[in-house]
Amino acid sequence: MTDQIKPIEQLMRRAKVIPVLVIDDLAQAKPLARALVSSGCPVLEVTLRTDCALQAIAEMKQVDGAIVGAGTVTNPDEMAATIDAGAEFIVSPGLTDRLGQAAIAADIPFLPGVATAGDIMHGLDLGLAHFKFFPAEASGGIPALKALTGPFGQCLFCPTGGIDESSAAQWLALDNVLCVGGSWVVPPL
Ligand code: 3PG
Repeated sequence: MTDQIKPIEQLMRRAKVIPVLVIDDLAQAKPLARALVSSGCPVLEVTLRTDCALQAIAEMKQVDGAIVGAGTVTNPDEMAATIDAGAEFIVSPGLTDRLGQAAIAADIPFLPGVATAGDIMHGLDLGLAHFKFFPAEASGGIPALKALTGPFGQCLFCPTGGIDESSAAQWLALDNVLCVGGSWVVPPL
């Protein structure tokens, strides 16, 4: 791995699976992070879908080896709050100019959701080439992502949405897929 590899790509190469976490019980945050890190999943996406999500990010970050980011980030205000809480990367279900520009200005690794060629072109216009393919199965699954590889061979993906233990390996076999995300790894806590 060289210094030329962007931080977002280094992060995508750290673990094949990024657990998408919905944490309702703050007391579970640290033990969960410890368990995931020790089972080979150091990159953790905490979704902003619960009241304690920001606190969970702050707590999980204290766990040795954990790389904790925020998911379900939909606007710059939410992004700023997660960065204040200590988020080390940002995942969004889709891409807007506002959020994309804010993430670039904040110089934080950013994985925006894309589902179509137009979405990818939007990202490329902003200078982005690393994407969450979302919702992966509902957007056409592996055939859809393979079809997008032709015109967008320079892009790298983390498919997420509808993936589970039984399908993850098939996604990971694609050349332009560095990792997959999913909530199947950990049920809501
Ligand atoms: C996400 O936020 O990335 C998705 O909700 C995860 O999708 P899954 O629950 O189908 O894994």
